Amino acid sequence: MKPKIFITRKIPTHVINHLEEVCEVSIWEHKDIPVPREVLEEKIVDIDGLYCLLTDAIDLELLQKATNLKVIGNMAVGFNNIDVEAATKRGIIVTNTPGVLTETTADLTFALLMATARRIPEASDFLREGKWSTWSPMLLTGQDIYNSTLGIIGLGRIGEALAKRAKGFNMNILYHNRSRKIEAEQELGLEYCSLENLLKRSDYICVMTPYTPETKKMIRKEHFKIMKETSILINTARGGIVNENDLYHALKDGEIWAAGLDVFEQEPVVLDHPLLSLPNVVTLPHIGSASIGTRTKMAEVVAENLLQALNGKIPTNIVNKELIAK
Ligand code: GLV
Repeated sequence: MKPKIFITRKIPTHVINHLEEVCEVSIWEHKDIPVPREVLEEKIVDIDGLYCLLTDAIDLELLQKATNLKVIGNMAVGFNNIDVEAATKRGIIVTNTPGVLTETTADLTFALLMATARRIPEASDFLREGKWSTWSPMLLTGQDIYNSTLGIIGLGRIGEALAKRAKGFNMNILYHNRSRKIEAEQELGLEYCSLENLLKRSDYICVMTPYTPETKKMIRKEHFKIMKETSILINTARGGIVNENDLYHALKDGEIWAAGLDVFEQEPVVLDHPLLSLPNVVTLPHIGSASIGTRTKMAEVVAENLLQALNGKIPTNIVNKELIAK
């Protein structure tokens, strides 16, 4: 009997076809509507493999219903939507998609940094709204990027790729991480700092850490107070790492200069969210890895990992490595 796989959203057809060669595949066919919880609850009961997205909460309650499930393939590098501990206890392999999205996400992070610093969305709206009456000396002036100081919080793959881009802009690069990365320090000329020191000295602060209980709301009121008044916060990791209410007040009260946000604590962010009322916030709808090439590769990687696990192999991108020993 073919193993059963459920895919929680419409994905590239060639990936579905590939999975269908060896699996019985069912799909939540929508492009833009997340799978309803009740559908997921019904499907989870007898599937062998789950292809899911970061919008799907794969929690303990759901996993308790999964009697056959062997593997969960998450189409993201982050996996905070999955209760990995509960999956591990049940012997269910969890996989993610690191590597393939590194450069694309670093590109977007740098693009957001530049768009925020130079007020690009605001300037574009200004023109389209017919407000451009003349060239003016201080009109829509922003912050310089070249020669400034960048602080990277979380020096993983994407953080390092961001540092490479920043080097091209002659930026002085600081980083804070759980552990020091001596090789990256030497190769890219990075300086390791305490979080406080980084926040005090940086012109641009990029949040690049995974979202875990330790990093939940790790950037909050007291941190904004020590940042420069001209500093810009960029978050392309997870919204929950920053206390959004404290960020709102810091931006409103001029404690920091601007923020560029690709992620929010609740997604999609509601249109009356206080942060969206501020002119010095540039927002994006969680598109860090959204290039055609990268999203296609991510879909292929999820499928490969699912097939590896269902064939009794150790998937390339297993998250809960403690299962390997078993
Ligand atoms: C996107 O946010 C991802 O984790 O891949």
